[in-house]
Amino acid sequence: MTKSLVWILLFLVAFAALFVLQQLTRQTGTSSMDAGYYNGMGEAGGTADTSNLSGKELLGKFECTRCHGDDLNGTPMAPPLKGMAKYYDRESLIAYLRSPERNQTGTRFDEYKTKYATGVMPAFGNKDVKDLGKIADYLLGQ
Ligand code: HEC
Repeated sequence: MTKSLVWILLFLVAFAALFVLQQLTRQTGTSSMDAGYYNGMGEAGGTADTSNLSGKELLGKFECTRCHGDDLNGTPMAPPLKGMAKYYDRESLIAYLRSPERNQTGTRFDEYKTKYATGVMPAFGNKDVKDLGKIADYLLGQ
């Protein structure tokens, strides 16, 4: 009776030790991965470093082309992005990208609502203004 109790106790202790060990290794595993993620990849909080991307590249990176088309000629989801200089200067285009709903100018937007009913222009207010500036510069030259 006492002998089997000792065995059970031994098992419990071994089990607890293994559990603690596993927790410890898991913690060091995650933190070293985090260090690699932040230092090695040059990324923090899931925001990629975009400072070396051109305006054209950013259109792909931010998936503008997914809706507006690789050639910016529009898709059934979104209007073409050619000739934007007719409607915007650099500042007003950045303002539009940051908050499209509030910066719609002109009656073409009434048309867009029915023509591109499946697409909604997302707000890019969470993006670096420098990146939006590069995009604006690029678009205004198209
Ligand atoms: C999910 C699809 C979608 C994505 C992604 C998207 N757009 Fe749009 N965009 C639209 C739609 C739809 C409109 C038409 C306006 C509306 O419905 O709000 C629009 C309108 C615009 C306009 C205004 C066009 C005009 O005639 O004034 C600009 C400029 C624009 N988008 C640029 C961009 C840029 C730059 C990006 C990426 C940073 C982007 N869009 C990403 C769907 C999208």
